[in-house]
Amino acid sequence: MNLDLHLRSLLRNPVGLGFAILSLALLGAFAQTGSEHKGSPAPWMNSRLSPDDRAALVVKEMTLDEKISLLHGTGMASLGPVSPLAVKSNGGAGYVVGIPRLGIPAIQMSDAAYGVRNSGENGRYSTALPDDLAGAASWDPDAAYEYGALIARELRAQGYNMSLGGGVNLTREPRNGRTFEYMGEDPVLAGKMVGQVMKGEQAQHVIGDIKHYALNDQESGRNAVNVNIDKRSMRESDLLAFEIGLRESNAAAVMCSYNRVNGDYGCENKYLLADVLKKDWNFKGFVVSDWQATHSAAKASAAGLDHEEPGEIFYGDTMKKAVESGKVPKAELDEHVHRILRSMFASGVIDDPPEKSVVDVEGGFEVAQKIAEQSIVLLRNEHSQLPLEASKIASIAVIGAHADVGMISGGGSAQVDPPGGNAIMPPGQGRTTWQAHIWFPTSPLKAIRAQAPHANVQYDPGTDPASAAALAKAADVAVVFAYQWESEGMDLDNLSLPDRQDDLIARVAAANPHTIVVLETGSPVTMPWADQVSGILEAWYAGSRGAEAVARVLFGEVNPSAKLPITFPKSEADLPHPILVKPPKASTTNGEPDAWKTIAKGLPPFQVTYDEGLKVGYKWYDAERKQALFPFGYGLSYTTYSYSDLKVTPGKSVHLSFKVTNTGNRAGAEIAEVYAALPESAGEPPKRLVGWSKVKLNGGESKEVKVELDALYLSIFNVEPDAWQLVPGEYTFLVGGSSQSLPLKEAVDLK
Ligand code: BGC
Repeated sequence: MNLDLHLRSLLRNPVGLGFAILSLALLGAFAQTGSEHKGSPAPWMNSRLSPDDRAALVVKEMTLDEKISLLHGTGMASLGPVSPLAVKSNGGAGYVVGIPRLGIPAIQMSDAAYGVRNSGENGRYSTALPDDLAGAASWDPDAAYEYGALIARELRAQGYNMSLGGGVNLTREPRNGRTFEYMGEDPVLAGKMVGQVMKGEQAQHVIGDIKHYALNDQESGRNAVNVNIDKRSMRESDLLAFEIGLRESNAAAVMCSYNRVNGDYGCENKYLLADVLKKDWNFKGFVVSDWQATHSAAKASAAGLDHEEPGEIFYGDTMKKAVESGKVPKAELDEHVHRILRSMFASGVIDDPPEKSVVDVEGGFEVAQKIAEQSIVLLRNEHSQLPLEASKIASIAVIGAHADVGMISGGGSAQVDPPGGNAIMPPGQGRTTWQAHIWFPTSPLKAIRAQAPHANVQYDPGTDPASAAALAKAADVAVVFAYQWESEGMDLDNLSLPDRQDDLIARVAAANPHTIVVLETGSPVTMPWADQVSGILEAWYAGSRGAEAVARVLFGEVNPSAKLPITFPKSEADLPHPILVKPPKASTTNGEPDAWKTIAKGLPPFQVTYDEGLKVGYKWYDAERKQALFPFGYGLSYTTYSYSDLKVTPGKSVHLSFKVTNTGNRAGAEIAEVYAALPESAGEPPKRLVGWSKVKLNGGESKEVKVELDALYLSIFNVEPDAWQLVPGEYTFLVGGSSQSLPLKEAVDLK
């Protein structure tokens, strides 16, 4: 019976209404039976049992078809066949049918990198947080937790029980179009922060997912590229970020990546999935393929892929036949199913399923603004140009980047839909299409006017540098907004600002000595004009309340405290790979309708070799003695800090204590960074981040800061015994406010 139709016709007939209510009651009773078992509550519904025990009880009851149904999604038109069952999807990127007879709900997955995706086309609403890289710039684990919790609340309110955020690919290639979705270049910072995001999500009873495992560090040719890298380098860098993230959060899912690593695809890579993730790290959750990153049934299954998305090219009928013929052992199938069910029990989506409700819009604004305020990095402040004093300024020129209406956001599957559509489009024309530049309706011009109500604040779009310079010349202060858009599915050609914005900034700076640049970028950018302007703020993709946050920083209501989670090089020539390797034509598809078939079979590989090895990000600049434009860990404040009294106490774990003093008179928060130089014999780059603490200090106040170092962060990965090892010898600990400004230093011997 089509229950929907049946109820609709009854509801149209008032006489039938009483009957309809009875029908609903019966329907409710029917739904209940899903959690019943031979007349009594199903034993796996006993929440006192462990998730493993509960999963094992369910697996025993399942038919082969039910097991197979859990191993794949229901399809996506552009990526292969779509099952009729997909109509029950909540409108997210993935939908896995449940098993109502056993009380197992469907898995409704949504992308959720900096907010819940696709809300616009589903007639819903989501908050856009500052992008993930911005989140990392806060270096604030509590903010990261809040970031995850907000996303998960909005996922649940929209009917989802699984998130597809959690991007933590280390930045080896800053031109990667997804740099904004990741957490920068350091495995400890990125791992800790993504771990907190996941923890915040899972605490709301949503399945968390960390991605893209591993080394999907460029978008160009991502379905074909073979990444060559040595084991030690990947374990100590790229994989370490995942290891820490998982250890911190027990995230229930890991998404394997499109690319190949040392010959095998991420989703059929035995080393990555079986040996490292599942064995070494003891990961208990399930591995979900990136959307069409599955290339086989038996090989992928043996390597450790548990679930195929978005459809069932390999993990549907093909898998069923492989199980029936013994190519995939039954125990292996059961393990995949067990892992998925276990994750559902462990994350609480079975005991506490989401109920749709209205998203808390104002609550979202509050969190988005607070995190933006903690993530905006002050890069330059000559002659204490900032903060601006509204009472002393008669006129302000606001220039560029559509600052009259909005701020740019990151694209691709991370894209969050702005309410009302793209802010720069006429109403009704702003639908968020794939790879369109989407501007959020958070207007810096309005926010600046609100901060300086008595000043004459004028806007120039910046499209004609001469007109912008003329406006700037006539104003007391010029604030130029500059953007660099990026997205999944593309890489940046270079790190320059697009659309001749460098020229615009230089012209404005020449016209007004009080020029401040506000950057809205997802990656580092080069700044040929850096010495000519008096202030630079990096606002990243600042989210739903970016403009308010920027204005509060500009006018000193917020004292900036963020630090760069990524190096800003002087030029691409300083990168480990000055040129990004593009795929040959044979390794690409042109979006033809059946491209999915070619991709599934496997495109011919092309090679990218990360021969910089351990030297990722600042480790490269340190080792190669290259000066960055703005180094990792760098960020100014409206006050100043000093460091003293370092004590290092070796023991089971190493303890550090030191004093940080706010030497100015404005309250602020200093991110005190701790680096270690390992013994010579370890063969490591000059130093690595091993800890930090964000310290709030009033003007003139001092605090003793204690940091306990995790032994893992001091270790190296030795490929011979295939294990982490602490190399005995002299360790030098360096403490300060940036990777290039470390006034405290103490060496100790560790055995
Ligand atoms: C992306 C994933 C995303 C998935 C679902 C893929 O193209 O790489 O990050 O979760 O699509 O939208």
